[in-house]
Amino acid sequence: MTGTTAQRSMFHDMLLGWYRMARRDLPWRRTSDPYRVLVAEFMLQQTQVSRAEPVFERFVARFPTVRALADAPAAEVIRAWSGMGYNRRAVNVHRTAMLICSDHGGMVPSDEETLRTFPGVGRYTAAAVACFGFGRRVAVLDTNVQRVLGRVNSGLMPMRPSEAWRLAEESLPKDEPSAADWNQAMMDLGATICVARAPRCGGCPVRTTCVSADIFGTAGKAWEPVAVAERPKTPVYVGSSRYYRGRIVEALRSVEGSIPIKELAGLVISGSGDEAGGRFDERIARLVDSLDKDGLVRFSRGTVSLP
Ligand code: ADE
Repeated sequence: MTGTTAQRSMFHDMLLGWYRMARRDLPWRRTSDPYRVLVAEFMLQQTQVSRAEPVFERFVARFPTVRALADAPAAEVIRAWSGMGYNRRAVNVHRTAMLICSDHGGMVPSDEETLRTFPGVGRYTAAAVACFGFGRRVAVLDTNVQRVLGRVNSGLMPMRPSEAWRLAEESLPKDEPSAADWNQAMMDLGATICVARAPRCGGCPVRTTCVSADIFGTAGKAWEPVAVAERPKTPVYVGSSRYYRGRIVEALRSVEGSIPIKELAGLVISGSGDEAGGRFDERIARLVDSLDKDGLVRFSRGTVSLP
């Protein structure tokens, strides 16, 4: 991290002091069971905390141990993932649990290198499990933390991931006994104060050591980032392949056994009118094929089911 030693130490003290008062009470923070941490981190890869919370509670109640998850049929795991989106993560967390049981004696490994051999586990998830599940002293970088580091250190400059990871590692305070507290403090600052569109600099515990506080305003003014008209448009989601893949899996969650593909196409029509017909059926068939390859559905002899 940049700045003098005194500035860095002030930054650390102010952020940790704030965190001890303001930390979010989240279900995966009430445990250090590495299995639960692993499930939470899979969920949090692409999903906001508020959406993941209820699904996490249900999921770990249904599959309380890595063995219970590994032994469950894939279809049940995909059903329990309902409400989360990005269903491939359900297949990945299930396969990871099976590998932990077959190759690691049912114990979640604590080192990042081994964790990264599992499907769907990248640098973020491996670091988060090592830190929050095992208390390892490693930096954990998610998009919130990356934004905080960028703003605190270098104003508005976007950073390459390798540079952001290096900064995150350098910013871990050497005298803080809990790297988990530090990483979660950074996450909470990014999620509640140093938010993407209109950072609340007036209420920020580290504004006096932040390069960007002057840019955004220190007096608690709402920062108006970019005129609404200039904001990048959200990409069209409805009608996209990801949209229909999600709808197919969602429809199959409520089907017992299997269903003819033609009927499935009828179930996923969203009502826009331009969907029915042979071209749409062909599109659904192609998507079902791709879902089959990803292990999310089983497609055989014209009928489809969860795997
Ligand atoms: N605590 C542990 N991991 C977290 C995450 N990804 N988001 C918020 N809080 C967390």
